[in-house]
Amino acid sequence: MSSSNPLRDPRDRRLPRIAGPSGLVIFGVTGDLSRKKLMPAIYDLANRGLLPPGFSLVGFARRDWENEDFAQVVHDAVKEHARTPFREEVWQQLAEGFRFVPGVFDDDDAFVKLRSTIEELDKARGTGGNFAFYLSVPPKFFPSVVQQLKKHGLSHGQGDSWRRAVIEKPFGHDLKSAQDLNQVVHEVFRPSDVFRIDHYLGKETVQNILALRFANTMFEPIWNRSYVDHVQITMAEDIGIGGRAGYYDGIGAARDVIQNHLLQLLALTAMEEPASFDASSLVTEKLKALRAVKLPKELGKHTVRAQYAPGWQGGEEVHGYLEEEGIDPHSKTDTYAAIKLEIDNRRWAGVPFYLRTGKRLGRRVTEIAVVFQRAPHSPFDATDTQELGQNALVIRVQPDEGVTIRFGSKVPGTSMEIRDVTMDFQYGESFTESSPEAYERLLLDVLLGEANLFPRHEEVEQSWRILDPIEEYWDQHGRPEQYTSGTWGPKAADEMLARDGRSWRRP
Ligand SMILES: NC(=O)c1ccc[n+]([C@@H]2O[C@H](COP(=O)([O-])OP(=O)(O)OC[C@H]3O[C@@H](n4cnc5c(N)ncnc54)[C@H](OP(=O)(O)O)[C@@H]3O)[C@@H](O)[C@H]2O)c1
Repeated sequence: MSSSNPLRDPRDRRLPRIAGPSGLVIFGVTGDLSRKKLMPAIYDLANRGLLPPGFSLVGFARRDWENEDFAQVVHDAVKEHARTPFREEVWQQLAEGFRFVPGVFDDDDAFVKLRSTIEELDKARGTGGNFAFYLSVPPKFFPSVVQQLKKHGLSHGQGDSWRRAVIEKPFGHDLKSAQDLNQVVHEVFRPSDVFRIDHYLGKETVQNILALRFANTMFEPIWNRSYVDHVQITMAEDIGIGGRAGYYDGIGAARDVIQNHLLQLLALTAMEEPASFDASSLVTEKLKALRAVKLPKELGKHTVRAQYAPGWQGGEEVHGYLEEEGIDPHSKTDTYAAIKLEIDNRRWAGVPFYLRTGKRLGRRVTEIAVVFQRAPHSPFDATDTQELGQNALVIRVQPDEGVTIRFGSKVPGTSMEIRDVTMDFQYGESFTESSPEAYERLLLDVLLGEANLFPRHEEVEQSWRILDPIEEYWDQHGRPEQYTSGTWGPKAADEMLARDGRSWRRP
């Protein structure tokens, strides 16, 4: 290809990338994640022309379904949750490649059937032996599914064909279990064929952190300890645990959100510029940042965990966590967690990173706020700037994606008064294209074999290294605080920042 015409260069990342001949097997296809996210994402990819014509989808679960029953379930899920409009001709072509395999994970016959189904699809649809296995199942089944794939000769393709494993979160519940799980997975699949899902990395705004930092000149010179006072990373939910008591109790907010999503956001915010955007350069830099993360000495002062108490949310009276159906009334599981971390390197020495997440908080919002130091000297009278806060750059990850810069401006009039104003970039206003769903992006990357947006095992291990001592400390010290549902969390979290002379943002 001529490099003088970049639009024709296959390396041009602006061109739509279309997956080659392939198929996807979803274990746990009747589950919540599959219906709400995976099935719609597959349809949306097909609708955008990004799947190969013979793309095939195999569902595996404990139901006595025929292929037609399965197709009906996918149809309903797509109608309800897909992002792009329903088009009958796209649907018809896609649905021809649907197969259902009923079975339990320890049932050898089911895996024999799965194997013959894949062979049939290779012949009928030209999938070329290329299959990804998506483990959308409760984490305790990850090892057995992976071992069954090996036992039945499904984990490796013939010749040039590929087999890949996609593993949902949580990857382990502490460092030891993550290492054990990894050992099982890597006995079966090569590391480069394992795709660990952290769906936050598939979000447009999260990828934009790298564009913002490294495609511009104006941010990076001040992105360090000389100008940054501290960083706040927040993921707040306004819902409770819903019907997920079985999954959530015993796991809690820190393991569910900080270990993966928030530490990944921290790594992207704190890392150095990668040599390129290939997966290994990105991982190298994220890992360096994660390895430099240091826990504060006094965990009692610099971490807070809490549970939601009854309160009001969205005009409705809601239960406290301990009254939720299926929750042990003595449970110590955290539904809110806040921790202070430091990054022990030249760029960030002395700059705290405050991470917090919680359920039943004031609003659903995820953001990274880089808060800058105050001006070193002010020629204004103290009264002029009394209302002025600190400059901040806020990357809004969800729900209303964009970037806000907060700075001081003179209030119009004859007096001299300086107050905070904001400058806003909103995805919806600046671009006509709507952002693909995270799972669309990630599923396509799996089929393309692109690993940039999937955490490697070393990153998962580093995250557990950071979290394990905190979880152990919490285990040994008392019970979680309580916070009223619909508020911004426990008093102890406000006190934690107040001791450092700072306060949480109210997004
Ligand atoms: N839901 C979310 O938003 C979300 C978000 C992040 C991560 N995840 C992760 O994604 C995975 C799936 O979550 P989910 O919410 O979809 O779970 P779920 O609703 O509980 O679904 C679990 C699926 O596993 C199947 N299954 C369970 N035990 C089985 C067995 N012994 N043999 C065969 N199939 C079995 C179930 O099939 P049956 O129909 O036969 O019961 C069902 O399809 C989990 O690892 C979870 O941690 C979910």
